[in-house]
Amino acid sequence: MKISVIGAGNVGATAAHRLAEKQLAHEVALIDIVEGIPQGKALDMYESGPVGLFDTSIHGSNDYKASADSDIVLITAGLPRKPGMTREDLLMKNAGIVKEVTDQVMKHSSNPILVMVSNPLDVMTFVAHATSGLAKERVIGMAGVLDAARFRSFIAEELNVSMQDVNAFVLGGHGDSMVPVVKYTSVAGIPISELLSQEKIDALVERTRNGGVEIVNYLKSGSAFYAPAASAVEMIEAIVKDRKRILACTTLLEGQYGINNVFCGVPVKIGKNGVEEILEINLAPAELAALQHSATLVQENCKSLSTLLS
Ligand code: LAC
Repeated sequence: MKISVIGAGNVGATAAHRLAEKQLAHEVALIDIVEGIPQGKALDMYESGPVGLFDTSIHGSNDYKASADSDIVLITAGLPRKPGMTREDLLMKNAGIVKEVTDQVMKHSSNPILVMVSNPLDVMTFVAHATSGLAKERVIGMAGVLDAARFRSFIAEELNVSMQDVNAFVLGGHGDSMVPVVKYTSVAGIPISELLSQEKIDALVERTRNGGVEIVNYLKSGSAFYAPAASAVEMIEAIVKDRKRILACTTLLEGQYGINNVFCGVPVKIGKNGVEEILEINLAPAELAALQHSATLVQENCKSLSTLLS
């Protein structure tokens, strides 16, 4: 198993280190355009092997040749959000970057699975799919896992229970229009509506929607990376170990949930082939409408890129 991580910034480097520590690959290649950064960070990670107890070979490069024959490629390249910037502000700039990165990746690996993290996430997943020519099952966006992790952590804190026992689904685009699905959010199988007041739930939902912004406002010069990296690695682990995990991920919808030809976050089964199944769960009418609205916003942004991608 070889995994390449494109972008040696905070998300990419944190994910690469985590992949090695979890021994999910025999080889991890870290690629970035900035001279010295991927080499230095990868060497530093490699040197942590004897004490971190892993044997993964990690190397950094500015050349995509180092990513040759990857089974999985994690794409984190792009500019991060600054305070006051929406994910959509990043649209044009990052679409150009992701297109270029995907072209380079595909020159050196014939049939990788791409896990996308660059923002705006759902649109960048569309760009990578359109550019790569890969089957739709092999281009997956990471957002629902992160948004659900945030929601789960807030619920665990509120109820003073183990995070492990909190399950949640956050669907839709990774942005202000995301749809935390309260009906399928539970603690050890107990719906949260039985444990928390509606007012409290609404507040936690709102905090989840603003989860990315809350971190940006603290960091000022960057956006979140520990939880995003951990979420991407959870998806990669499901692929590497063929675990058939049910996770909310961004995938191409073709009629499911009444949404056609849009990448959007929904529950999927993740295994060695990437997205192996899209689950169509029953949503309340308001939640379904919110999901469809979110998909419409993603679609509008995708349309605005038609010149870039033609
Ligand atoms: C976030 C950014 C990375 O949600 O999208 O933190």
